[in-house]
Amino acid sequence: MEFKLVFHKKVLSTSIEAKKIKGEENLWTVIASESQEAGHGKKKRGWFSPAGGLYFSIVINPRSLEDSQLLTLAAGLATVKVLRKKFEVRACLKWPNDVLIKGKKVSGALVENVVGDKVKSTVIGIGINTNIAEFPASLVETATSLERELKKKIDNQGLLKEILEELAKTLESERSAILKEYRLYEETIGREIKILTKGKEVFGQAVDFDQRGDLIVKLKNNKTVKILEGDISYNFK
Ligand code: BTN
Repeated sequence: MEFKLVFHKKVLSTSIEAKKIKGEENLWTVIASESQEAGHGKKKRGWFSPAGGLYFSIVINPRSLEDSQLLTLAAGLATVKVLRKKFEVRACLKWPNDVLIKGKKVSGALVENVVGDKVKSTVIGIGINTNIAEFPASLVETATSLERELKKKIDNQGLLKEILEELAKTLESERSAILKEYRLYEETIGREIKILTKGKEVFGQAVDFDQRGDLIVKLKNNKTVKILEGDISYNFK
């Protein structure tokens, strides 16, 4: 895979910029920015994006909607693998692609499909809390950064390149191989969870994934349901 890297000092969101670009065969255009004024996460929530963090969005050739879940998992998998290898840190995945260190979120990814007249692409946006020393009070309980955990500064560009290489390699693998490897790093299966999905709270035990990567949850009444997307919490009252 060839990469074309575009760096900005400040943008609203690297994914907003990336969505203007057409996906191409054998070329990933990567939009990175030192900070974002309107970085967003899942469900249009804001993504804390001060200077120091790593924010980038990859424009890839459009993939079928069937693949969206797999891309989502692959983005988290590539990130967690690089963080573990490069920094020897015990990072884990919370389904679908939150990367946690000691239970606090250090990275998240958002996959969006662009289907328009001119632009057709899939955009994978990844945010990593690298050199962030302080979080606002609203995030301090749930978020952390590599700087806080490792007590050192991170080379954002070096990390970006390694994640791109790892993700490209991951996406060359078969679906079953990606899911198999994902299982080595995830900590959701087997847990009692609460999921906020489609505006509803669902309680149960995460029992498995299906071959798409959707989460299978056993409810209190023993019925099983498949969850395509949602926010999971482990420690709830
Ligand atoms: C999430 O966990 O909710 C996903 C967070 C995704 C954040 C990244 S930062 C780079 C890219 N630009 C955005 O506006 N969002 C993604």
